[in-house]
Amino acid sequence: MRVLFIWQVNDQLKSYLSHHPLKKSDTEFIFLPSEQLNKLEIPRPEDIQVVIGWIGHNEVSRNICRKLSNLELIINPGVGIEKALPVMRELNKNKHVTLCNSHAHTYFTAQHALGMLLTLSNCLLTHHRLMKDGKWRAGDKEGASLPLKYRKTGLLGYGPINQQAHQFLSGFKTDIHILKNSLNEDQEADPNFYTPDQLHDFLKNIDNLLIAVPHTKKTEGMIGREELELLGEKGILVNVARGSIVQEEAFYQALKKKTIFAAGSDVWYNYKPDVDEKGRKYPYSYPFHELDNMLLSPHRGGSPLNDLNRWDECMEILSCFENGRELFNVVNLDREY
Ligand SMILES: NC(=O)c1ccc[n+]([C@@H]2O[C@H](COP(=O)([O-])OP(=O)(O)OC[C@H]3O[C@@H](n4cnc5c(N)ncnc54)[C@H](OP(=O)(O)O)[C@@H]3O)[C@@H](O)[C@H]2O)c1
Repeated sequence: MRVLFIWQVNDQLKSYLSHHPLKKSDTEFIFLPSEQLNKLEIPRPEDIQVVIGWIGHNEVSRNICRKLSNLELIINPGVGIEKALPVMRELNKNKHVTLCNSHAHTYFTAQHALGMLLTLSNCLLTHHRLMKDGKWRAGDKEGASLPLKYRKTGLLGYGPINQQAHQFLSGFKTDIHILKNSLNEDQEADPNFYTPDQLHDFLKNIDNLLIAVPHTKKTEGMIGREELELLGEKGILVNVARGSIVQEEAFYQALKKKTIFAAGSDVWYNYKPDVDEKGRKYPYSYPFHELDNMLLSPHRGGSPLNDLNRWDECMEILSCFENGRELFNVVNLDREY
């Protein structure tokens, strides 16, 4: 079995993967320098069955996949595969290639979401700013904490991230409501579970909204003006999924007009922003940084990126493939996640 890594892997990770207990001795890992990858100089491309890496983010990754005539499996070392979908559809026109996700940074992303929720519910942005300005000592008049035990928390999406957030939140005794794509029998019988057609009821019933759904045709723009109004003036929104799930202008206006109380976002609208006249880059078109109820985070949910254990899940998927066991975390190309 030959496995190609489609980015320039650093020495520490190369060593970790090459000595991994799940690596079979007869499996060949191919690590190439970026110049060679960029020129598509891949030795014996027809013998490569597995690719590990992020595909669809640039033309090189797409061209590499096109060149591997006997490719069977792509392991994405993360989630959020909207950029990979067009490549997968193209590859699957004349062969059968499977895409699997790795959810290994779920814990970190859920912790990040909780960090933002707690920062906002305890009005820490306000008090931090007041203390920086030497305004000792502000109190509840400027910003009173909102105890989670008196608030209802809505989990939009119930994949690994929001399931982990649910576990973290259990100690806070906040009432949890969950909206997901489809429900099993037990969930159908539980009034705290909702389907997408019940989005408005879900939003009416909650105070905190944690967004962790994939970016698909159905979730794009699913939170707009009306939905933010339903979340209400005490509502806190935290988005660690993808920027475009929340409509940008409606989001900015809701924060500016205090239609909702506050928001934190780790994900944005334009990942290649132009530099302004003062050398600044903002990944959005509305001035979110001027709002006093907005917590900005530059897509840090997966941090720390050098955590070697996060590669174990990729190795487990590879091991299933090599041993003919059922693959897990397989992306359904029609469902888009
Ligand atoms: N900020 C970061 O650094 C970071 C890190 C990792 C991931 N992410 C983003 O977070 C997203 C969530 O990741 P994840 O690993 O928790 O799960 P995931 O596998 O991407 O999402 C699956 C969950 O979303 C639900 N879902 C799908 N379509 C839906 C819809 N139309 N309405 C409501 N729910 C819907 C699914 O419902 P069912 O259970 O019913 O199928 C499932 O519960 C990823 O797709 C990625 O874009 C961001």
